[in-house]
Amino acid sequence: MASLKGLRAIVTSGPTYEPIDPVRFLGNRSSGKQGHAIASVLAREGAEVTLITGPVSLADPGGVNVIHVTTAREMLAAVRSALPADIAVFAAAVSDWRAKRVSGKKFKKDGGPHELELVENPDILKAVTRLKQERPGLVIGFAAETENVVHNARAKRFRKGCDWIVANDVSGGKAFDAEENKVTLITAREEISFGLMHKRDIAETLVTRIIHFSEEHLHDHRTRRPA
Ligand code: CTP
Repeated sequence: MASLKGLRAIVTSGPTYEPIDPVRFLGNRSSGKQGHAIASVLAREGAEVTLITGPVSLADPGGVNVIHVTTAREMLAAVRSALPADIAVFAAAVSDWRAKRVSGKKFKKDGGPHELELVENPDILKAVTRLKQERPGLVIGFAAETENVVHNARAKRFRKGCDWIVANDVSGGKAFDAEENKVTLITAREEISFGLMHKRDIAETLVTRIIHFSEEHLHDHRTRRPA
């Protein structure tokens, strides 16, 4: 029976939280449900899975090596240390920005406007697709879009250099924390709309496609654990 035995996978999931002061942070509404479901199905299919997750209220999936992180920079470092891998799925909603200076003391109101200077976080997906030796054989990104969903996701697939991208309509807060989602998988050869599905079923469908891909392309690529 087809399986992912002998293959290593990395999955990112959940939001990242970027501290502003000791009590506040910049974050987003990602629940981690989709990334955790993908990690769990990959593991059930025999892959050795490292799940790198931001702060979520979900239990760690069984049979998966889980690394908990808070910020985008911690997530990048954890992804780097989990390489090499054959498959990488970037389902995390990484905060694009962080505060330039994190205050050691809680900011106080003073009646006036308060300015917060932001700097861009590293792009974890892009950092991985640019690797020469250690680029996984299959890199899958997600595209959270609020308009022109498939068109923007297509462009994002090129910009980020990933093999597949899962386009996700998040307009009006859709998808976040929901049990169901409507996605389109975009590869070099095809665009497949999944229709409204439970996140667990999206994970199953995606992993079935990963198994087919791995049979064709990843056999000779299986990463070996360093001795
Ligand atoms: N991603 C990442 N590191 C970041 C930002 C995004 O790894 N710093 C990954 C996400 O996990 C996802 C993909 O890149 O797989 C696209 O994320 P998305 O938020 O849709 O795109 P952005 O890079 O934020 O692009 P834009 O703001 O232009 O939509």
